Amino acid sequence: MVNGSVRRDLLDRLWYGRDPYLGFTSSMAPDLQGWNSDHTYLTEAIDRHHPGVVVEVGVWKGASVLTMARRMRDTGCDGVVLAVDTWLGSAEHWLDPALKGQIPQLNGFPQLYFVFMGNVVAEGLQDYVLPLPLDSANACEVLRSRDVRPVLLHVDAAHDYAAVTADLERWWPLLQPGGTLIADDYDATYRVWETVSRAVDDFKARTPHQDFAALPYKCRFTKSAEWRPTPV
Ligand SMILES: C[S@@+](CC[C@H](N)C(=O)[O-])C[C@H]1O[C@@H](n2cnc3c(N)ncnc32)[C@H](O)[C@@H]1O
Repeated sequence: MVNGSVRRDLLDRLWYGRDPYLGFTSSMAPDLQGWNSDHTYLTEAIDRHHPGVVVEVGVWKGASVLTMARRMRDTGCDGVVLAVDTWLGSAEHWLDPALKGQIPQLNGFPQLYFVFMGNVVAEGLQDYVLPLPLDSANACEVLRSRDVRPVLLHVDAAHDYAAVTADLERWWPLLQPGGTLIADDYDATYRVWETVSRAVDDFKARTPHQDFAALPYKCRFTKSAEWRPTPV
């Protein structure tokens, strides 16, 4: 980080100055299991924007957050990835016994947040990652109210059509003009996560955007630099 000013500002605006890593210790072994978490679009977007604020919605154990945070450190960004998740898992994680087994629990309550925190600390990337343990809708409202506007958004939370649509609709207005949105699990053939791909395509069809590109299994597109909010 060049001088940490973005992190200090976000700590003040979102955490009332109190660092969430203070006093944190972990006895868990690092566990970077994830999906498409080292995708080239993530690192390319960091190189393109040299970002101050990145938001990832849908973090799980933090593998894709750490891919971006590492690149920010290595390229000298003064910036932070805001990691938005309930850390409770999505429907598909509860419905699949193998995935459910990936979520440590204490008296039935998921402990994913502590796996995530342990992974960030094990890599020494606390300077580049701040957690925001809220659901997507509430996190978006907090950031909007505190005027925190990312230049890069990675959307990878719940995967049903309605949830993906809601995430795209609520987060797009917060993205800075000229910024990039990356959507996970997009597949132009609709063979993988048809609900995600359809929601993204329907959103794109009604939303002016530029530079759409897709590779297995993410897509990205940018907001015009001239974009202005629709007057209400
Ligand atoms: C597919 S995982 C994210 C994977 C991660 N990006 C990676 O690379 O490994 C989806 C995550 O979205 C979170 N999630 C689901 N619905 C959410 C919501 N409404 N708000 C915030 N997080 C949500 C789940 O808790 C889960 O951790």
